[in-house]
Amino acid sequence: MSEYAIEVYDLVKKFNDLTAVDGITLKISKGEIFGLLGPNGAGKSTTINILLHLLEPTSGKALVGGYDIVKHSREVKKLIGLVPQETVVEPELTAEANLRLFGRLYELPEDEIERKISELLKLAELSEFRYKLAGTFSGGMQRRLAVVKALIHDPSILILDEPTVGLDVQNRTALWNLLKKINRERGVTILLTTQYLEEADMLCNRIAIIDHGKIKALGTPAQLKQSISKGFIIEIFAEQKYTKDIIALIKRKFRLESSVSGDRITVNVSEDPVDFLGKVSSELEKEKLPIVSISMHMPTLDDVFLKITGSSIRDTANNEVVSPTMRLRGR
Ligand SMILES: Nc1ncnc2c1ncn2[C@@H]1O[C@H](COP(=O)(O)OP(=O)(O)O)[C@@H](O)[C@H]1O
Ligand SMILES: [Mg+2]
Repeated sequence: MSEYAIEVYDLVKKFNDLTAVDGITLKISKGEIFGLLGPNGAGKSTTINILLHLLEPTSGKALVGGYDIVKHSREVKKLIGLVPQETVVEPELTAEANLRLFGRLYELPEDEIERKISELLKLAELSEFRYKLAGTFSGGMQRRLAVVKALIHDPSILILDEPTVGLDVQNRTALWNLLKKINRERGVTILLTTQYLEEADMLCNRIAIIDHGKIKALGTPAQLKQSISKGFIIEIFAEQKYTKDIIALIKRKFRLESSVSGDRITVNVSEDPVDFLGKVSSELEKEKLPIVSISMHMPTLDDVFLKITGSSIRDTANNEVVSPTMRLRGR
């Protein structure tokens, strides 16, 4: 057996003229919670579907548990539990019947299915809803049922495609906790895709930022943030007609490079950001350059994304907390 749960080497998937996956290489160790973070159309689902051999790769190679996904797709499918993007449970069936149906699809023995039903409903904190129709469940409960359903055949790897889309904050947190528990207590390696920065930050021990079918950055959330700045990010909002002059002033007076996205200017500062904040404010005032706001924060994955792709997730003037509802920019 390979030491890696998943290995992907220079994977390419073309749909006619469109290169959806453009040479992705990554290795995911056993026991990791790994996140593919990227905006809509980045190539996340395509990558996952290739791993399950639901799509044929155009070129490149991928191994799951050491098995080649093309040559040994049967073995690979046994190792993986999949929670697809558009997850559905059978609304006309009870929670237990949903699981039973799935167990039979995997041709598990009936007594094992019964054991699994109790175990998995407990894991999803749905034991008391065992005989209730899944269609009556809240979105969060249905999603938890869908997740444990994917564990019916005891896979060592769980793959989830945008598992928390459409969930409110509470249900999202509950799902994160379930996934952490599955990872910690059952030793299941988790690969998930997400457009939510906070999800990647809170849940994943490593992240690959993917855009236009390419990995743009890879590391732990802390590594990614530190790659942007070891110190603080100063953020200045100003009318766009002033941004050029403001950037020039910062360069002239402080020898610091800034990046700009619309009306938002960001500057990396390594020391004493409070002092810097004061100095910049007074210089701007001297030169009569009006600003809307100036603030500072520790680097976030949003800053990483801005640096890498040149565009940012616009939110409020205060970007210290990345809202869980905040998504990467659309296309
Ligand atoms: N079956 C397909 N045929 C043609 N184009 C596709 C197909 N599936 C995905 N694409 C295109 O490939 C790109 C990546 O899609 P996808 O992997 O679904 O992105 P993501 O999951 O990151 O949103 C998109 O531009 C999408 O339109
Ligand atoms: Mg997708």
